[in-house]
Amino acid sequence: MPDHTYTRVGFFSGEKIPLEMHKARMVQRVHLRPVGERLAVLNATGNNTFLLPNRDVFLDMLTDSGVNAMSEAQYAAMLLADDSYAGSETYYRLEKTVQGFFGLKYFLPAHQGRACENILATAYVNPGQYMVTNYHFTTTKAHITRVGGHVYECVSDAASVTASSDPFKGNYEMAKLASFVDKVGTDKIAFVRIEAGTNLIGGQPVSLANMREVSEYCRSKGLKLVLDASLLADNLYFIKTREESCLKRPLDEIVLEMSGLMDIVYFSGRKLGCARGGGIVLAGEDDYRKLRDLVPLFDGFLTYGGMSVREMEAMNVGIRETLDIDTISQTPIFVEALGESLQAKGVPIVTPFGGLGCHVDALKFIPHVPQEQYPAGALCSAMFLTGGIRGMERGTLSEQRNPDGSEHLSSMELMRLAVPKRVFSLSQMMFVADRLGWLYEHRDLIGGLEFEEEPATLRFFLGRLRPIGDWQERLAAAFRRDMPSGL
Ligand SMILES: Cc1ncc(COP(=O)(O)O)c(C=O)c1O
Repeated sequence: MPDHTYTRVGFFSGEKIPLEMHKARMVQRVHLRPVGERLAVLNATGNNTFLLPNRDVFLDMLTDSGVNAMSEAQYAAMLLADDSYAGSETYYRLEKTVQGFFGLKYFLPAHQGRACENILATAYVNPGQYMVTNYHFTTTKAHITRVGGHVYECVSDAASVTASSDPFKGNYEMAKLASFVDKVGTDKIAFVRIEAGTNLIGGQPVSLANMREVSEYCRSKGLKLVLDASLLADNLYFIKTREESCLKRPLDEIVLEMSGLMDIVYFSGRKLGCARGGGIVLAGEDDYRKLRDLVPLFDGFLTYGGMSVREMEAMNVGIRETLDIDTISQTPIFVEALGESLQAKGVPIVTPFGGLGCHVDALKFIPHVPQEQYPAGALCSAMFLTGGIRGMERGTLSEQRNPDGSEHLSSMELMRLAVPKRVFSLSQMMFVADRLGWLYEHRDLIGGLEFEEEPATLRFFLGRLRPIGDWQERLAAAFRRDMPSGL
């Protein structure tokens, strides 16, 4: 992997520090509750970190979605928003930016990433057809199956090796793609999707070279290729710093080549552009007309797509800021620094460090908890108990059950500790490493979870679970013994 520095500046001592390339001019008070209160909150909220109220959370590391720190230029732009149902100047400004950024002719606004997925699934997927992808995302899969389709994954085998040195674990395994297409035939495939970077497998990137291969293959077979660019900022950073042929290429040129390989690009503006919204970008007029008619039906008129115009102005600036390496490096270098401190404590985490956040391997952390008892979910509960830190389960709990009602065991059980862009300080990351290090030393105390209330769709959002046995009380008691303040 090529050496890189960007904002990870070398100190005279030799240490490499992730230096913030911004300063905070507005802050939010957070609260660190004692362990007894955390235990009560955990039980009251069904051991589901999605249900925790912010007032009880010290560090919210659930996601980077819609919670990244915005720049002063983004806030300033919000004041310019032109609030009108149709023909808003804000829309035309955003359209011009998105067209220039991706180099594609048409832009359709949508209220967030899953709204784009709804439109794509509705327009293209017939019952029994497949969406082929490197790896699925929760909402993507839910929309495909909602319309009677199936998801087939072609990610490289390297992706399921949590401790690895493969710089692009999100890549397609081309042989898997080709043999699946040969097996089912192109008529059975609604479209091929690349998620760059990947969410559920540790924010792992896809290389530009791999995108070229997939595109060439899809064009030779007449298959539609769609890029989910929600996590593009991190992926772009990794292409720029890990892919030999891109080390010297300007970021805008890399994005233009990437989107030129696709038929359709969509994104969650809660991630790309650090605002709240989303959009679909494409080159073909036929596709544009087909998708366009669904926007007013599901999201809103074509010049806002369900978004607030203030958010559209913020997104307009945020997308342009994605082309600044010192801006997009912030999450990856903080993830790297946190990951290194965790590794030093022996905590099993996903490597190479990806984007989005640090991903802890629950199967290695607590091998005594079976997958049917949701080890990654249990680890998230234990993490909250130990430090008031809110992570997200990315494992079996985040999967949908099989049609026969049996569990669909995930290939990985990860606790994701997201690092939203420019939100946390280095000392807060040191706190996370310290508390997770303590938890690792007391991992034998952690037990499993079972459902108390299980929703039929996207159960991880609203489901309620309970601990199996009294392990949480015993963990809290051990914590109090070592940290008498309970903090
Ligand atoms: C890769 C990917 N695609 C789609 C989505 C859905 O976007 P949204 O949350 O804006 O609906 C997300 C959100 O996390 C994502 O990470």
